[in-house]
Amino acid sequence: MEKIILYTGKGGVGKTSIAAATASLLAGKGKKTLIVSTDPAHSLSDAFETHIGHSPTELGKNLWGQEISVIEAINSHWKELKLYLTGLFQSQGLDPTAAEEIATLPGFEEASHLLYLEEHIKSGNYDVIVMDSAPTGESLKLLSFPEAMSWYMEKIFPIGRTTAKVIRPLVRPFSSIPFPNDAVLGNMESLYNSLKHIRDYLADPDLTSIRLVTNPNRMSFNETKRAYTYLLLYGYNVDALIMNKVYPPESGEFFKLWISAQEDILKETQYAFPELRFFSLSISKSETLGREELEKMGKELYGDEDPLKVFTKSKPVSYEKVDGKYTVKMKLPFARKQGINLFNRKGELVVEVENWRRIFYLPQSFSDKKPVSAEFINGELNIEMV
Ligand SMILES: Nc1ncnc2c1ncn2[C@@H]1O[C@H](COP(=O)(O)OP(=O)(O)O)[C@@H](O)[C@H]1O
Ligand SMILES: [Mg+2]
Repeated sequence: MEKIILYTGKGGVGKTSIAAATASLLAGKGKKTLIVSTDPAHSLSDAFETHIGHSPTELGKNLWGQEISVIEAINSHWKELKLYLTGLFQSQGLDPTAAEEIATLPGFEEASHLLYLEEHIKSGNYDVIVMDSAPTGESLKLLSFPEAMSWYMEKIFPIGRTTAKVIRPLVRPFSSIPFPNDAVLGNMESLYNSLKHIRDYLADPDLTSIRLVTNPNRMSFNETKRAYTYLLLYGYNVDALIMNKVYPPESGEFFKLWISAQEDILKETQYAFPELRFFSLSISKSETLGREELEKMGKELYGDEDPLKVFTKSKPVSYEKVDGKYTVKMKLPFARKQGINLFNRKGELVVEVENWRRIFYLPQSFSDKKPVSAEFINGELNIEMV
């Protein structure tokens, strides 16, 4: 696997079109390319004007598409785990249908999408995976999930620390809960391991590029700034910003006010995202559908540039020890200081930015330190630890 490209942004900005365009462009250049939709409201089939199934469907030379079905994924990956959870809730007195409903825990959906990713990477069938994801909030849930879920699993089950079998005698005396059998524990352990691998793949800046798609209007642009902050919080490498649906000067009188707003936003882009590679794409006269048209769109977007390149490599978090002073530095360009909450919980630094939280395992020398003060220096939060 050479590359994973994931596009994110507000609903309707053009993520699906741009992902499909990029995949068509790369396939045209001879790269074996798979485009995966993780948006439950799939629209890849519409973009390519052909049926795309739940497993990779060939769309012509070097190109495959997949619209993931969460239900199918859960049934194929975690039947055992779901049966166990259903039984568990039933044993607590819930009626069977309600128990089954609850057993589809939030997070299973996100995990299902991601597990396919691991399968595809391991299969060696593709050179590139392009991900067409759901709007910002959902994508962030997807991207924050592997780490958060591993964290919970480590707390609830001693997975990742000792072997699962050890807890059997510990748990039984305390509860009437049926203890998971080996198949369920096996499921859980493999889920845990897969999530760890996926997190490593997606957070590897040499493998995965996350690209922000936006439009030249205030609502899309502001959402993009927030998305960028949260992606950095979770440690992902964002390397480009794509301004889509730009009005050309000849758009005419009717679009005059849109164009003047666009001018402000384009100016702002230059200093708001100085480290990101900037691409722009004009609004087209008609909808871009079908592989051939999409490939043209991809050429127009990337020009002479290679979409496989890593355009920027940022270091979202670094740990510094200078003259006995310990500092954690975190790039969070658009966060407001009032929106940030920091604390140390048993050797883990918890950072909350608005509604998003990340738990950092601190390096050994930092683990007994507590955050005492924090200040922003050039969009970077400097947390002093004592
Ligand atoms: N550069 C563009 N010019 C004109 N229409 C576009 C452009 N990019 C996307 N669109 C159209 O905008 C609509 C939403 O695009 P889509 O790719 O589905 O966005 P998203 O996946 O972000 O929700 C579609 O009808 C699409 O054809
Ligand atoms: Mg879409």
